Amino acid sequence: MIALTVAGDDEAAARTSATRISAAIDDARAERGVAHVALAGGRTPARTYTLLTRIHSDWRDVHLWLGDERCVRSDDPDANAKLIVDTLLAAVHPPPTFHPMRGADEDPTAAAIAYEQELREAVDGDPPRLDVALLGLGEDGHTASLFPNDAVLDEQQRLVVAVQGTKAPFARITMTLPMLLAARQIVVLAEGPGKAWAIHEMMAGPSRHVPASLLADGEVELIVDLSGAPA
Ligand code: 6PG
Repeated sequence: MIALTVAGDDEAAARTSATRISAAIDDARAERGVAHVALAGGRTPARTYTLLTRIHSDWRDVHLWLGDERCVRSDDPDANAKLIVDTLLAAVHPPPTFHPMRGADEDPTAAAIAYEQELREAVDGDPPRLDVALLGLGEDGHTASLFPNDAVLDEQQRLVVAVQGTKAPFARITMTLPMLLAARQIVVLAEGPGKAWAIHEMMAGPSRHVPASLLADGEVELIVDLSGAPA
């Protein structure tokens, strides 16, 4: 089920998503003593992470994971891990436990297998149940590195795989739908008129042409700003 939240502008959308993540962390720590959070890359969530460091102060027993990663050096501006380090980890003390994907340091397939093992060892549940996953939305309807009509959309066993995306950098590692749909809460953040088509299609029903629409089997809140909101 996908619930749509329309914020007045991109700053309000960022603040709303930051508030959701903070609340999910508090709930998870109160109920289970630990919080497991998957974060998105790309450009959109940078403001969310900055605001999150200002509204959330207690990062003890919090584990940050990546929904996907580009197979580039960790200091590459395109690296999702670099976004998390620069906007979040550098701003909170003591920082949460961060689990980067190692797609640049080793073979992507081996790195994906290792990341799945790390998740299975650290996170309860089978599949492991994240407390919240923040995801982005591509203009073509992709989310994480699950791209339109890709065979990875049919993956039912593996939780993390190496893929060749259609958005550069092409070599990537991504959580699969079984891993993402097991999350207690999914927040998809999409801003700007360029995402309007993908937002509309995501709300129109599940389709392999719009991978983000396949999240409808999970507990999803799609947070958009007015410029991208469906008419
Ligand atoms: C990635 C992201 C991807 C991203 C969307 C939106 O590694 O590219 O995980 O799913 O969230 O492409 O990207 P923008 O926020 O830059 O529009």
